[in-house]
Amino acid sequence: MNIKPKLNPLLHASMLFALAGSAAFAAEPGPASWADANKSMDYDTFMQAAKSSFPYATPEEFKLRVENDPTLKTCNATMDQPNAAQSAEIIKFEQARIQYPKDGKMVGDWQQGEKWAKGTTGGRIGFADADNPNLPSGSNCFACHVMIPGFPGGNMGPSLVGYGKRGQSPAILKYTYDHVYDSKSIVPCTIMPRYGGQGHLLTASQVADIVALLTDPQSPVNQPEKTAAK
Ligand code: HEC
Repeated sequence: MNIKPKLNPLLHASMLFALAGSAAFAAEPGPASWADANKSMDYDTFMQAAKSSFPYATPEEFKLRVENDPTLKTCNATMDQPNAAQSAEIIKFEQARIQYPKDGKMVGDWQQGEKWAKGTTGGRIGFADADNPNLPSGSNCFACHVMIPGFPGGNMGPSLVGYGKRGQSPAILKYTYDHVYDSKSIVPCTIMPRYGGQGHLLTASQVADIVALLTDPQSPVNQPEKTAAK
């Protein structure tokens, strides 16, 4: 597939949200909520912006991007605070979509896992300049987590440095695999993306490689922090 970069004359949806938000925040006395701030964005304007943001998407791909599945519908409707019954429903739905590697091994190769965890390509079928489809998908865990001592990471998620202290029992491997493959099967409306499966970023074997990165005693995640030279 040959993808020609094309400059997109329209703003994409997230930028429109940002602009709508800041314009509303400049007004006094200010909106009561995010929803109030975005009331001025009508459906047609939103769809036009979204469509222009995904110029290469087939209709099916576009539908996947703008239509919420049952989990996201509940999370959106409850501002990420589902009640107990809704949480149970989400967990059941998400657990059912987890697929395990064909060979049954939930732990793969940590060196490959480091590549997938650091990789930032894949998934962006939108924007003016689509990803090179020949590059493997990565997951950019470091956007939210500190994972490897000395390698920068974000703080939206907890630090995963030294994760391997939990060991590699079958229960820990399954918990880790499930959390990376489908975080919402464990924490229903977590902001952590669901990485595994059809239409998502990572294959089952890539998830197993990331499980190795987190749990293998040899992996850089589990090396002692180097102390700065005096
Ligand atoms: C958008 C931010 C974000 C990204 C990207 C992200 N995570 Fe998370 N992650 C979180 C948050 C927030 C939590 C805590 C809530 C939860 O458990 O989901 C979390 C929790 C976890 C946990 C459970 C922590 C524990 O102590 O049991 C693991 C394991 C994990 N993430 C691994 C990863 C890996 C591996 C990647 C990349 C494949 C990744 N995360 C990408 C936000 C993120």
